[in-house]
Amino acid sequence: MRMTDIIMKKRAGEAHSPEEIKFLIQGYVSGEIPEYQISAWLMAVYFQSMSFTEAGYLTRSMIDSGKVFHLKGLKGPLVDKHSTGGVGDKLSLILAPIAASCGLQIPMMSGRALGHTGGTLDKLDSINGYSTALSEKDFQEIIKKCGFAMTGQSKDVVPADRLMYALRDVTATVESIPLITASIMSKKFAEGAQSLIFDVKCGSGAFMKTQDDARALAESLVETGRSLGRKVVAVITDMNEPLGKMVGNFLEVEESILALQGQGPEDVMEVTYRLTAWMLVAGGICTTVEEAETLCRKKIHSGEALQAFLENVKLQGGDPEELLAQVGKRRSKYSRDILSGRTGIIQSIDSFAVGLAGVTLGVGRNKTEDPVEPLAGIEFHKKTGDRVNKSERLCTLYGEDPDLLKEAARVVENSMVIEESSTIKKNKPASLILEEITAL
Ligand code: URA
Repeated sequence: MRMTDIIMKKRAGEAHSPEEIKFLIQGYVSGEIPEYQISAWLMAVYFQSMSFTEAGYLTRSMIDSGKVFHLKGLKGPLVDKHSTGGVGDKLSLILAPIAASCGLQIPMMSGRALGHTGGTLDKLDSINGYSTALSEKDFQEIIKKCGFAMTGQSKDVVPADRLMYALRDVTATVESIPLITASIMSKKFAEGAQSLIFDVKCGSGAFMKTQDDARALAESLVETGRSLGRKVVAVITDMNEPLGKMVGNFLEVEESILALQGQGPEDVMEVTYRLTAWMLVAGGICTTVEEAETLCRKKIHSGEALQAFLENVKLQGGDPEELLAQVGKRRSKYSRDILSGRTGIIQSIDSFAVGLAGVTLGVGRNKTEDPVEPLAGIEFHKKTGDRVNKSERLCTLYGEDPDLLKEAARVVENSMVIEESSTIKKNKPASLILEEITAL
């Protein structure tokens, strides 16, 4: 087999065989196929795309390029959730304990914040003592004891993706749907998940800005999963406004604890319940999402979900009592309120701008090696649709540097549109759940 022929085939829009994809991935990882040929192939894929079956072959070959977690000691069902990334997206912290208290086992390997979107690992690292660098043995043991564990992605998993993602970044081929699909799915399946629920975010603060783009990715994830014989559900959710009231690392841990205590904001709980419900259906615990949502609500009201979370905090090195005592108290050194300049109704809050303000404060990072500020962030006192009076507090920003706080405050202030009308014009959608695509 010759790489040149494989490039020509894709350039002509023809479909690859599993052997060709395997040859290409193995050759790339071993260094036998040079990056300039892989680059040419990536561009051919960008223009000609791939069928779901081919994306499945690519996912399979990428999984085989490295270590695969078998998590043999676990009885399952092992169901994980993946979000394409948003602002204020703390759902993993709420959903994993709810799902675990319903009987699922969740092997959760998460990422760090990058650009305007937050990262689950940075949020968890803001809990004193909490370790997100678990050995495979500890990962399994903690899942066995409390139903879920949260750790970082192992460097040994899918080395083909690490190489190819960096190459896609410099060859302007990141946006290819089959390449995104294989990149995300190979990591999740290699990490031991049997079934996957995707939260495909859509809107200004998301990777996919339009519903058409979000649908194309959702369909690709679901159909490629089907071609691999896996249960996959993709839920397209609105990400035009930050989720919940808190954007920040410890701030979002706090909001997650409040949610597990039954005091979660409506938008956060709507998406959390739906995603968890699909996890329970995919895992065979419930037969319908309606039944599953009812079970999730019961686990919040009974306190079992909160107990699962606190148990996990303890098992991963944190102190649950100390953590509960810190809610509402642990804040950055400096804070700054933004007051409304007029009386009216908040028409919109641009989540992309809020995410960028978060990066300025140190919630997120521009480069993977940048540090983050655990206590920095933004607390919204008002959200879209709320009526406000002139000089009323809209939100409070927290940070470690007064100059950066001032800069971020300007961005957040501009992100909020307030009009003096008595009705909301650009209302948020009636539901944040925009579409659901399933392969069960
Ligand atoms: N996230 C990934 O893991 N891979 C992509 O290609 C895009 C987003």
